Amino acid sequence: MGRSGAGKTSMRSLIFANFTASDTRRLGATIDVEHSTVQFMGNLSLNIWDCGGQHKYLDNYLNEQKENIFGNVEVLIFVFDLETNDRDSEYTLYDDCLQSLAQLSRDAKVYCLVHKIDKITDPEQKRNVVDSYESAILQRSGVFQPHVYGTSIWDHTLYKAWSQIVFTLVPNMATIQGNLERFCELTDAAEVVLFERATFLVVCRAMGSGPDPHPDRYMAVSQSIKQYRDACADQGTPFRSTHIRTRSYTLFIEPFTKSTYILVITADPDVEPAVTKANIEAARSHFT
Ligand code: GTP
Repeated sequence: MGRSGAGKTSMRSLIFANFTASDTRRLGATIDVEHSTVQFMGNLSLNIWDCGGQHKYLDNYLNEQKENIFGNVEVLIFVFDLETNDRDSEYTLYDDCLQSLAQLSRDAKVYCLVHKIDKITDPEQKRNVVDSYESAILQRSGVFQPHVYGTSIWDHTLYKAWSQIVFTLVPNMATIQGNLERFCELTDAAEVVLFERATFLVVCRAMGSGPDPHPDRYMAVSQSIKQYRDACADQGTPFRSTHIRTRSYTLFIEPFTKSTYILVITADPDVEPAVTKANIEAARSHFT
């Protein structure tokens, strides 16, 4: 939900439909509500309602269609447009949406994206702007405790925020995380990451003793793999797995469970790739 032009369809197209950031320039305004369903983590269906933000639709959502739009909501993602010249009306819309949500879906989670943060270049100023939105949002959110992120389609921030949003919906995440950490420890891996198969969003990750990776890295891996997978599909050869060995590390990306790919990085030159592959094979049954 958010005002027209805030960037809702752009973000949906990037995460769920393989658009690039520049492809979004040719998107038109969303007419009423666009529904899409993504088969997710095997048996979960993620139903996304992209609500067009033009005035004529907003009135309708908050009145005649209120029960349809705000009933049974698991997650409300409200997109604030950093470029707006009418911040008050954005906050008014936010207040109206939260009021309807409080009546019809009191247990929903709320995420607020302060979007187009790329318009500010100075990192400190970025932080200050997001902080000031956050305190204004928290003050007006009543029973809800929204998470607030600064996002942009031009860098990793959007990918990171969506990974966090979507995976609050996965019911057995604590078990998956525990299993992954154990796998990382037992195999002496430097890093292990699970990616969701359809979107290549990060499901969860476990680190060995090395330094924390750069935050852009997972988005870069995800985009490269999606492009490579599309290129394989164009050639009629389904993408299976990738294995890269350099002097300092070995990297595997393999289909893992029905709904995930696994990335395993080992930094110990004595660990033979065949051993890592066998370990991945052996671990599979613990994740299904
Ligand atoms: P409605 O469908 O009318 O509700 O609009 P919307 O919220 O779906 O907006 P849309 O996704 O169509 O994006 C509007 C414009 O904003 C497009 O030209 C996008 O390229 C641009 N845009 C989206 N996200 C970003 C961003 O993170 N940074 C910048 N600079 N531009 C963005």
